[in-house]
Amino acid sequence: MSESEFLLFLLSSILPLLLFFTLLRRKQHNLNLPPGNMGLPFIGETIAYLRPYSATSIGQYMEQHISRYGKIYKSNLFGDPAIVSADAGLNRYILQNEGKLFECSYPRSIGGILGKWSMLVLVGDMHRDMRLISLNFLSNARLRTHLLKEVENHTLLVLSSWKENFTFSAQDEAKKFTFNFMAKHIMSLDPGKPETEQLKKEYITFMKGVVSAPLNFPGTAYRKALKSRSTILKFIEGKMEERMKGENSEEEDLLNWALKHSNLSKEQIMDLVLSLLFAGHETSSVAIALAIYFLQGCPSAVQKLREEHIEIVKAKKQLGEVELNWEDYKKMEFTHLVILETLRLGNVVRFLHRKALKDIKYKGYDIPCGWKVLPVIAAVHLDPSLFDQPQHFNPWRWQSGSTRGTSSLSSSSTPTNLNFMPFGGGPRLCSGSELAKLEMAIFIHHLILNFHWELADQDAPLAFPFVDFPNGLPIRVFNTTSSFGTINPT
Ligand code: HEM
Repeated sequence: MSESEFLLFLLSSILPLLLFFTLLRRKQHNLNLPPGNMGLPFIGETIAYLRPYSATSIGQYMEQHISRYGKIYKSNLFGDPAIVSADAGLNRYILQNEGKLFECSYPRSIGGILGKWSMLVLVGDMHRDMRLISLNFLSNARLRTHLLKEVENHTLLVLSSWKENFTFSAQDEAKKFTFNFMAKHIMSLDPGKPETEQLKKEYITFMKGVVSAPLNFPGTAYRKALKSRSTILKFIEGKMEERMKGENSEEEDLLNWALKHSNLSKEQIMDLVLSLLFAGHETSSVAIALAIYFLQGCPSAVQKLREEHIEIVKAKKQLGEVELNWEDYKKMEFTHLVILETLRLGNVVRFLHRKALKDIKYKGYDIPCGWKVLPVIAAVHLDPSLFDQPQHFNPWRWQSGSTRGTSSLSSSSTPTNLNFMPFGGGPRLCSGSELAKLEMAIFIHHLILNFHWELADQDAPLAFPFVDFPNGLPIRVFNTTSSFGTINPT
């Protein structure tokens, strides 16, 4: 190619690009975009947005941006231009219009690690089919008939290993509880067995990669997690093959359910299993650790909980019953307030990833088609114009009849406060929300009846943005002296 031909080639490739970006910029000039700062080229403001901060706050970045630009602002995050929303109304609008105006859009690295068939990244019909399986499997009927009992067994298994005056990581114990429960529920794995422990080990490496920067180089957490992902998938595949040969084919777990009642391929089932293990284990364990943390700072709530749970046990003793049942669960009214308040203040999931499918107008602002949209649910839960003293742990705020920042509880204990969205909303509302509340309530029941606890060392939840206790939430426990303990003191 001669020099002039090369120049011509270069110009013909660059000119359309320049034209495209000029037109795009001109189009954006005519738009009424929310105020904001697009930050540095490529990385935008991503680093500042992801800098760790106290989980009971919205962090300095968000505070500064809201006070400078308001609750809806533009930025450049995760490699794309983005609209960030701390506005309750816009957040609801985004979630309710999933598939019509907005669509779930997690960064590609999440799909890389959770799998392309993971429910978190799927959209459209395929998402609907997978969702149906998860909803059937986590239905209220199954919670009553199967899961409550399993949740109680796994709670007792963990708590019965706690010894008087011992110090340990409450976060690790909560993880042990939710992992064992999910592994049993999904693949009928028994706690403590070598294969379950091996899977747990791989899963820990996998999780470290999910929350790390997606750098696929030798030695990085992300690379190690991809390796663990394939080991875990091989394990799941092995279990599927056993089932297809007829082994354990009568077990009522998710694996059998998906094999018998769906047309999903092997690869799809493997991603479904992995993503449910992820969605159901990490979130609930953090929520339980948060409850333990908030309660140790609120003796009046502990006292009220103790009264509630002693009443339940007294009534059961009179009936000669031991195991908890659905009626007992429904009596845990104050416990539900504690759960709601833990989810509001702790914000296990802080923001969601969406993108605009069309040009959208909201409160006079333009949201251009293709832009990322991040509804920050934590910012609404910690908004002082919606919740009185939002940084204060106050379960009583959820009592019906209280003033601002409260709700009434419906029969299914779902708060009717529209600003409260710990489980997201719309067509992608968390399929495990009722299970998560059940796990928290049963764990709190046995914890409160059997132990007092205190922080053994300084720790507080941080948002990375995944919520985590940097020191693992070290606690020291003491047996209660009451005669209502549900496990034998050791
Ligand atoms: C406190 C505990 C939990 C919290 C705070 C939580 C929160 C959430 C949130 C906010 C979403 C929406 C994600 C989005 O819209 O992009 C979600 C989705 C989901 N969660 Fe949970 N979750 C919890 C526990 C669980 C449990 C125990 C399970 C199941 C075993 C579960 C299974 C799922 C699934 C399958 C989805 C995807 C739903 C869909 O895309 O249709 N979650 N969760």
